[in-house]
Amino acid sequence: MEYLKLALAKGRLAKQTLPLLEKAGLATEQIDLDGRKLLFTDEVNRIQYILVKPSDVPSYVEHGAADLGIVGKDVLVEQEPDIYEVADLKIGKCKMAVAGPKENTGSWMQKPVLSVGTKYPKSAEAFFKEKGKNISIVKLQGSVELAPIVGLSDVIVDLVETGSTLKENGLVVFEDVYPVSARLIVNKVSLKMQNERIRQWIDAFRQ
Ligand code: PRP
Repeated sequence: MEYLKLALAKGRLAKQTLPLLEKAGLATEQIDLDGRKLLFTDEVNRIQYILVKPSDVPSYVEHGAADLGIVGKDVLVEQEPDIYEVADLKIGKCKMAVAGPKENTGSWMQKPVLSVGTKYPKSAEAFFKEKGKNISIVKLQGSVELAPIVGLSDVIVDLVETGSTLKENGLVVFEDVYPVSARLIVNKVSLKMQNERIRQWIDAFRQ
């Protein structure tokens, strides 16, 4: 039997993913999240695990290098990949939010053009477009919370989980944008060609 390939997001989500895989009946003891190895094989279930950056999971699945993938809704909203999103796995729960310096809580929307520091330009643009608010995006790759503190942007649009990064930097949530959790995604051709086998795993993950 061919290997079924499953792309997993490295980082925060990975630690929560392993218990979920085990619950679905998969053996995960060979997966070493802290090492440098990126490919692991479960010979019994004929599954190969591919460990990639969260933002790369959709590419692997869309192009068929992986049949299935586990990735945050934030990444899917941002990339709109051509895949099937088949289950909300209810792990990696956090939210996309607009945040900024505490002292601007009442006044931040008054700026005629709001500058928004973010790794998520599509999410930010869609949110403010719906509000009819003009914005300019400052695209960042990380440490986004720094932007409003040093005057690079007025606000940020970023993930908030525990809220401690905001708190440590004197920022507060101004508005929620959308809730985020991990989703199971499937390659469109794989689902057609290996329907029964993939359906089984989808059902196992949904339990
Ligand atoms: C995310 C996010 C925030 C932080 C929020 O960053 O961008 O910075 O987590 O979590 P908290 O509310 O629990 O503090 P992450 O650590 O994933 O890495 P990054 O800064 O490189 O994006």
